[in-house]
Amino acid sequence: PTRRSSDLGGAIFKKGEQPGMNSWLHEPLVRKEHFKKRSYRMDEVKLRVAFTPPDFHAKWNELICVVVDVLRASSTIVTLLENGCQQVYTLASASDSRALSRKQDYILAGERNGLTLPGFDMGNSPCEVLINDVAEKGVVLTTTNGTRVIKKVSGARKVLIGCFLNAQACCERALLLAREYKTGIGIICAAEKNAFVLDDAFCAGFLVEEILQIAGLNSINIELLDSAQAARRIYHGYPDILSAFRASNSGQRLLSIGREDDFRFCSNVDIFTSVPVLYQNSYFWCESL
Ligand code: MLT
Repeated sequence: PTRRSSDLGGAIFKKGEQPGMNSWLHEPLVRKEHFKKRSYRMDEVKLRVAFTPPDFHAKWNELICVVVDVLRASSTIVTLLENGCQQVYTLASASDSRALSRKQDYILAGERNGLTLPGFDMGNSPCEVLINDVAEKGVVLTTTNGTRVIKKVSGARKVLIGCFLNAQACCERALLLAREYKTGIGIICAAEKNAFVLDDAFCAGFLVEEILQIAGLNSINIELLDSAQAARRIYHGYPDILSAFRASNSGQRLLSIGREDDFRFCSNVDIFTSVPVLYQNSYFWCESL
């Protein structure tokens, strides 16, 4: 008989795994006692999508938020942390980024309109991360849209960074947190200067689908608000990830500046398990959960 998540003190079953067969299940990300102490049953997690940053309203601050800038800020941050980088500082301004990196001896990364900023160590590029030694280092990242949106949503209960590369890990974590905080999940698309972009909306739809599947395995009910239903439809409207990227303006821009490597790399699904979470003091930075 299939074991339910409650038998395991609330551990989340991973998609494609047999409950009880994986050691991961015996090390739940959140302590078992934590679930025992609370007798509530999580009946429903509301799931919504902000297709553009202005769709993020003050009431979203109570949610677990997942920021998606699939081409490329989210993919770069996930790749940095997966490759041992300690913290990724996300700054909106290029001059503030220069100053912070100089002061702390951090690697300086970023772009404007896709192109590496003058004097920067690297662009906003997951493929450049792979050829640089980022292990144990701090990185300052500034991008046209992604790092601004991270700042905008920073008041949310928790902010995670998601993309195809870490989709499953990120969705599992978002569900665990939603359950822990008894709240809903909001996926926020970075978009392009506040305008809708297809690549982020498509990726948001993929994450909606992923959350539904993981929730199904764990007897957690999900309520899809209209925006999440729409994102799901967008996801199902394309035969594969590269077709959606190719149809998008961001994808076309990457190809036009010769970054087919990033275009392809960002379409890999679940190759990484790092889930960046946002912290803040006088700066905003991401560390792997
Ligand atoms: C952004 O944050 O605007 C993007 O990730 C841009 C890019 O890298 O092309």
